[in-house]
Amino acid sequence: MTREIRKVGVIGLGTMGAGIAQVCIEAGFETVGREVSLELGERAKERIGGFLTRKVEKGQLAQGDRDTAVERLGITTDIAELADCDLVIEAAFEDLQVKHELFGELERVVGDDAILASNTSALSVTEIAAACERSERVVGMHFFNPAPLMKLVEIVRAERTADDVFEAAYAFAHLLGKEPIRCHDTPGFVVNRVLIPVLNDCIRVLDEAGVTPEDLDTAMRHGAGWPMGPCALVDLVGIDIHVHASEALYEKTREPRMAPPPRLVRMANAGKLGRKSGEGFFKY
Ligand code: 3HC
Repeated sequence: MTREIRKVGVIGLGTMGAGIAQVCIEAGFETVGREVSLELGERAKERIGGFLTRKVEKGQLAQGDRDTAVERLGITTDIAELADCDLVIEAAFEDLQVKHELFGELERVVGDDAILASNTSALSVTEIAAACERSERVVGMHFFNPAPLMKLVEIVRAERTADDVFEAAYAFAHLLGKEPIRCHDTPGFVVNRVLIPVLNDCIRVLDEAGVTPEDLDTAMRHGAGWPMGPCALVDLVGIDIHVHASEALYEKTREPRMAPPPRLVRMANAGKLGRKSGEGFFKY
């Protein structure tokens, strides 16, 4: 069966959800973004509009196309308004209980053929899907931060994902202009399985080698060709998000390198969350 995706729902318009919604409207898909309050939803829509305005200023997008794209994005607090979506991408808080409630609710409102995707980065898609009666319609679509700029989407096959659902998610990522890959539902999937322990090693090296965050970033940019240094990257991802993902992977794999370095845990506890809080390794 081929599945046509015309309308997309995005649950949660934080950094990742807003980025995903932006990618969808830019690719021409009518999109509904659901947030817990209208104020948060409208604020996310303004941020998206701001990024698209910047593209107009840089000559990358016509003003008319920018305005049409922004008009494609509806904001709601009511999951029932996602009833006619062919695909819903969940990008809510990384908590299994929260996701179970959302997927249970979603299954009650969407049509029988709708695909339910999770953007989870560290939880098991199979465990998330367990909340659904028809778990064969659940798939992982893992985008990378910043979603409008990063090309990769990991299409994650959960234990019960149906073949046509898996392939439809893969094809949809292509329609978004992304470079999807197919993978199994293992802890961290592909990129985070590799990147999280490497970033944790980088943070441990700060103290071991007595190097400053500035110099470590210079080292990895100019010695390893990274587009941005590890400290700037953890600040971008969010210290709390990185700690949470590390803990989740450590719990699943028991590999010591997955465990969050104490320095990061201290920063998260002190509210130094990176760019979003104005301070992490660097000040913003
Ligand atoms: N939409 C549109 N444009 C955006 C944007 C958005 N959401 N966010 C930023 N931009 C724009 C900026 O406005 C900026 O333009 P401006 O400065 O002219 O206004 C432009 O994009 C980026 O410009 P840069 O010169 O900074 O671009 P770079 O060439 O330096 O690339 C980068 C930026 C793509 C972020 C690059 O530094 C990079 O690849 N970094 C690594 C990022 C990475 O590894 N991400 C993965 C994190 S892990 C993850 O996400 C997994 C998750 O599970 C935790």
